[in-house]
Amino acid sequence: MEVSLLTLITSSRFQLLLAVCTLLALPQLIFASTTRYYNFDIRRQNVTRLCHTRSIPTVNGQFPGPKIVVREGDRVIVKVTNNILNNVTLHWHGVRQLQSGWSDGPAYVTQCPIQTGQSYAYNFTIVGQRGTLFWHAHISWMRYSLYGPIIILPKIGLPYPFPKPYKEVPIIFGEWFNVDPEAVIAQALRTGGSPNVSDAYIINGLPGPLYNCSSNGNITKQSAPSDTFKLKVKPGKTYLLRMINAALNDELFFSIANHTLTIVDVDGVYVKPFNSNVILITPGQTTNVLLRTKPTAPNAFFLMAARPYATGLGTFDNTTTSAILEYRPKPSKYYNITFPLFKPTLPVLNDTVFAANFSSNLRSLANRQYPANVPQNVDKRFFFTVGLGTSPCPHNRTCQGPNGTKFAATVNNISWALPDTAILQAHFYGRSNGIYATDFPVQPPFPFNYTGTPPNNTLVSNGTKVVVVPFNTSVELVMQDTSVLGAESHPLHLHGFNFFVVGQGFGNYDTVNDPARFNLVDPVERNTVGVPDGGWVAIRFFADNPGVWLMHCHLDVHTSWGLRMAWVVNDGPLPNQKLPPPPSDLPEC
Ligand code: C2O
Repeated sequence: MEVSLLTLITSSRFQLLLAVCTLLALPQLIFASTTRYYNFDIRRQNVTRLCHTRSIPTVNGQFPGPKIVVREGDRVIVKVTNNILNNVTLHWHGVRQLQSGWSDGPAYVTQCPIQTGQSYAYNFTIVGQRGTLFWHAHISWMRYSLYGPIIILPKIGLPYPFPKPYKEVPIIFGEWFNVDPEAVIAQALRTGGSPNVSDAYIINGLPGPLYNCSSNGNITKQSAPSDTFKLKVKPGKTYLLRMINAALNDELFFSIANHTLTIVDVDGVYVKPFNSNVILITPGQTTNVLLRTKPTAPNAFFLMAARPYATGLGTFDNTTTSAILEYRPKPSKYYNITFPLFKPTLPVLNDTVFAANFSSNLRSLANRQYPANVPQNVDKRFFFTVGLGTSPCPHNRTCQGPNGTKFAATVNNISWALPDTAILQAHFYGRSNGIYATDFPVQPPFPFNYTGTPPNNTLVSNGTKVVVVPFNTSVELVMQDTSVLGAESHPLHLHGFNFFVVGQGFGNYDTVNDPARFNLVDPVERNTVGVPDGGWVAIRFFADNPGVWLMHCHLDVHTSWGLRMAWVVNDGPLPNQKLPPPPSDLPEC
């Protein structure tokens, strides 16, 4: 690339090319936004990790999937063609989808799945967001291999509110299974037990040097060097790491040995910069950090590592993924000398104190240019419990959940039942009958000491129930973890909105004393928040986006067990406050 540019400069044609480029760039400067087209061909590809070769669903044969790179204000059109046997939908996680709910993607919520051989063009505009988001499949556990970054650059001519990075690098975490994750979750839902955990975490698709390849239980060899992501840096520079947690079921701690990170953006919103040696990132969250390299290249390598923050009672993948930070240029005379490798220190697996401190350090910029439009008054208040429960085992079967039952997970004790057609279509045509009910409870059906001794009866109810709110309602929602079958941190994700995290705490939410401590000035704005382990979180948002918006735990095992619900936001009176009709290529069920 660099060489070909040099050749161009020395050639006389470069002058002409420059002139043409300037002309072509002009309209962009004037209108400042453009349409970015992508073709996503879903097809299977053989991929080998941990000495296991598997045929996994990919986009265009790439794993992780291709980057989408846009500027704030751009329109994005992604034509997705499904060339595998599984049904597929894609979700543009964190994209506001203003008046484009048909492109949001959760299966049976905003659309029917794209079936084998079919195509669907997702079409949306990026409004008021800048940073990193990601896209992923939104049906069953298909997102284990179908995911990739969405990079949102500021508008042309607008600088970042932090030092301009020398280079930007996506760091995307995932989970690798040596077996088919679709079979894993299918079996778990059949037996009612916990699904088997992944075999490795991966960074940009690669597990790193701390895993061994093993087959038949015998360790055969170390993972190949090609199994390790290397971040090659120059001394004295600032790098922007665009971190994404696309793992299915695990919150992650991340750290780089002997380097401090500066957090500058979460979930596509700038934050007040703060320094930390360790990042906590839940599935569904994204975090941009600045990495300032040492002034001179040290004669050492630095390990970058991630491992889980795990709070529940269930089993989890207790392994560590890693990548190498490598300074360049490596002096050739040292070529055969082994430099020391420094390793980072990560918090203990259940370090809830770290989690609470880390999230309370996140603050909106809240300045003139990037204000925090926090709802100061509330039209509607909601109180939702989130947690686990049980469903009865069907007759003549044995189940592997707690005491022979099946695991379930709920919001306000309702375990979400997936309908067999898309709710958004039913809503648009006013045909909710038999598809969903509008009586989702605004508070728990029976109160109990949520974080104390759990009740004896842990049975849940099932249903497809939504909350309906008028356009532009100012909503306050408190989400309360429960200790039923073990307290646990739950990363709750809301589609279609960013929300402000105005308060959080441990124990039971106190309606009298806790609101007095809410931060209504510079709370962090995001789309996924960890409901604290044995605690609560309060969020506020304006329901300014007409449509049907899923909210769920981004731990896929909990989503599968039913920890999801949906908000219906009705149309407003003005034309730009209405959900447009469905696109003609919207898949049918
Ligand atoms: Cu990233 Cu509904 O999900």
